[in-house]
Amino acid sequence: MPVATASKTQTQTQEPLKGTLKLQAATSATDEAKLVDPYNYVGEVLGAVDTDYPYAEFLPHNPPRTESGPALEPFEFVDRGHFADPGYARLRAFVEAHGGRIKDLGIAIGTVIEGDAKMEDLGKDELDDLALLIARRGVVYFRKQHTLTIEKQREIGAHFGPLHTHPTYAVPRRGDLDDVVVVYTDRNSRPDPYAFSRAELFHSDVTYEIQPPGPTILRLLTTPEVGNDTLWSSGTALYSSLSRYYQQYLESLSALHTGFNQAASRVGTITVPRREPIETVHPVVRVHPVTGHKAIFVNPGFVTRIIGVPKAESDNTLAFLRDGFAQQTDATVRWRWEAGDVALWDNRVTTHSATFDAYPSQRHGLRVTPLAERPLSVEQYEAQTGKKAIDYIEERYALLGISGPKSDEGKTLAGGFRD
Ligand SMILES: [Fe+2]
Repeated sequence: MPVATASKTQTQTQEPLKGTLKLQAATSATDEAKLVDPYNYVGEVLGAVDTDYPYAEFLPHNPPRTESGPALEPFEFVDRGHFADPGYARLRAFVEAHGGRIKDLGIAIGTVIEGDAKMEDLGKDELDDLALLIARRGVVYFRKQHTLTIEKQREIGAHFGPLHTHPTYAVPRRGDLDDVVVVYTDRNSRPDPYAFSRAELFHSDVTYEIQPPGPTILRLLTTPEVGNDTLWSSGTALYSSLSRYYQQYLESLSALHTGFNQAASRVGTITVPRREPIETVHPVVRVHPVTGHKAIFVNPGFVTRIIGVPKAESDNTLAFLRDGFAQQTDATVRWRWEAGDVALWDNRVTTHSATFDAYPSQRHGLRVTPLAERPLSVEQYEAQTGKKAIDYIEERYALLGISGPKSDEGKTLAGGFRD
């Protein structure tokens, strides 16, 4: 994430973190209103004050370590969306049996499951349909899942893919939930607008991993009455918004995703990371293995450069795509959380950002993060599957019976936006 404290030396030399980021003393519990990176949850500092808090066992905890563990092993990934009914028949029947319906929130992104369906009652068939729904819609919400346990949330996540253990973030205090990320802010987590711009806050989670996450599940336990919303922005729609010339250019590129800045931001909070930070090269345009949709797969949180082009070109392209994610109001959905709400997003084809407007309110959630395939470029996807990768808007227009090019190819006159 954007990190005010990141060490230039570490990111530039790509030296292993161990031995170079030896940890400083933990932050003082009395150090209220400390300025921090908003995604850098300060952990231990907070727990001592919350003796009556009902979710105390899930407060953030940073287990002490003396050395880092091994790197993640590669694994074969099969997306559960391949086993879905194309019309979500099983999921739809389940939702309707609980008085609800599957309702889209926007044209390009976002769907809410209405009614009183409980996620813990979803069977494997319904979960397969849900995997496809998440892939197509980018993010799916279930409201007021008060009875969903963390064990069941992990079980649902494990149906989608092996659960990620975060290399540096806090885990629940309970001690047996290493594959759960605690999302937490309170009065100790004052956001610092001098350290980040709003556009920079859009990110996909842990994209430096060789096989980054797919469907990701966040449930909020505690949330402010107002504020601290989350926005999701569609990488498929962003790709679709570009000219075919620029699409082809981006499809030829790959980019460097680094975990070093995030690791550096944890200095002072943890002693030794669970795993050494890594850097990985991924395609700038990836293809979703189930939908075949092409999506922009860069984010300002982790991507530092596009490979093989001059720095000015890399910087400007990344800034253009970053601003595209932040500005595409037609392909962004905003969720106003209530306690118990669950968001499931496809980390491969969306970015997301919190709004850090509710300081010093408390916000507390648990994230389960199933890993997926190594990102496929258009060329790799088409070679492996024998299918043509898809521009989402062309598929949408075809379904609507709209023919012809997706734009006027520059013939549209300027003006007309002065209402
Ligand atoms: Fe995130």
